[in-house]
Amino acid sequence: MGPVKIGIVGAGGMASYHFEGFARAGAEVVAMADKDTGRAREFGEPRGIRRFYAGLGDMLSGSPEIDAVSVITPNKFHKPLVIEALEQGKHVYCEKPPALNAAETIAMQEAAERAGKILMFDLNNRARPEAKAIMYYIKNGKVGKINSAQATWIRRNGIPGFGGWFTNKAISGGGPLLDLPHMFDLALYFMGYPEPDYVLASVFNDFMGSRAFKGPWGIPDLKGGVTDVESACHAFITFKTGQCLMVRSSWAEMNEREVVSVTFQGQSSGGKIERLFDIDGLDGTSIDNCAVFTEENGCQVDYHIKVEKDEQMGRVTQAVNFVDAVTGKDAPLNTPAQAVIMMKLVDAMYESAAAAKPVKL
Ligand SMILES: NC(=O)c1ccc[n+]([C@@H]2O[C@H](COP(=O)([O-])OP(=O)(O)OC[C@H]3O[C@@H](n4cnc5c(N)ncnc54)[C@H](O)[C@@H]3O)[C@@H](O)[C@H]2O)c1
Repeated sequence: MGPVKIGIVGAGGMASYHFEGFARAGAEVVAMADKDTGRAREFGEPRGIRRFYAGLGDMLSGSPEIDAVSVITPNKFHKPLVIEALEQGKHVYCEKPPALNAAETIAMQEAAERAGKILMFDLNNRARPEAKAIMYYIKNGKVGKINSAQATWIRRNGIPGFGGWFTNKAISGGGPLLDLPHMFDLALYFMGYPEPDYVLASVFNDFMGSRAFKGPWGIPDLKGGVTDVESACHAFITFKTGQCLMVRSSWAEMNEREVVSVTFQGQSSGGKIERLFDIDGLDGTSIDNCAVFTEENGCQVDYHIKVEKDEQMGRVTQAVNFVDAVTGKDAPLNTPAQAVIMMKLVDAMYESAAAAKPVKL
């Protein structure tokens, strides 16, 4: 088998990570589609991509040799593009969040099963060296059953622009809860993706009109555009296994600084992975910590785990894992069934917040 041939849809902010990962895994990006073909050319020509299209349909008919499609568009377009690619017999790698809600994600999962093709999502934090190190301790039994965990991605001033697709619920599906699902996905992954039982959540929309809370990343503001998503979500989830998880997610909230972390308490050991930012949203200003807390010989013992710094938070290595999953070199780091559970939880958090009461799953 020659190199895996990939077509990318969407030449925005995330495309360079996908491209770098695919190249590192030995795959070849043969074509790129974007509504804005000029943007696709600007991205692709310096990187040696030769064919450009205005949409997925044109790309699939013009470049039928494509084995796999990478979807990097605003969230609303994930489901139709993913299903179209799967129905054309392609493997698919799709940016997070999987879709706007659980119903769409289930439709994507079913399309992948019908096609017999791999469908993976860019839940890149699972591919970080810190997450791999913690999984080593979980798999070798050092941690034991995780009773409780706390998943935090809180930004102090990280609204990704005003009026563009990120802040428009019809296109994004939601605010930071849906945009920053990485830590609660990672906590669920550490906990063994247990079956949820109850969800209780609150959302807030303070600061969504204030430029003081605009982040250093995102997309340009859209004059007259819609800003109708939450700025923060706080939730508590219980599972049928007796485990529980707290979720904190914000783009704008009165925090000391941006904090990205999972902390957990197991029956044998606890632990954390943590990224602390000096400047919100700028990975280059971050400090990473990874630790396991345990008891040995009557003493309280802390392991401070040193791993290679991955400023890109696994975005490149997750794309490598997709190609390796396609070629059978490695197991996929995430599955559609897990994405469905994650999105059922997102739906339940919004439902609980709207109803101001717990939701049973
Ligand atoms: N994993 C991460 O860390 C991470 C970080 C940021 C964004 N994302 C996700 O990546 C995705 C894209 O975000 P972005 O920041 O690159 O967005 P972006 O707005 O910078 O780029 C999106 C591109 O898609 C194109 N596009 C839109 N609809 C299209 C369609 N139907 N067909 C073809 N092209 C189309 C647009 O013209 C644009 O060039 C989103 O799902 C977002 O949630 C992931």
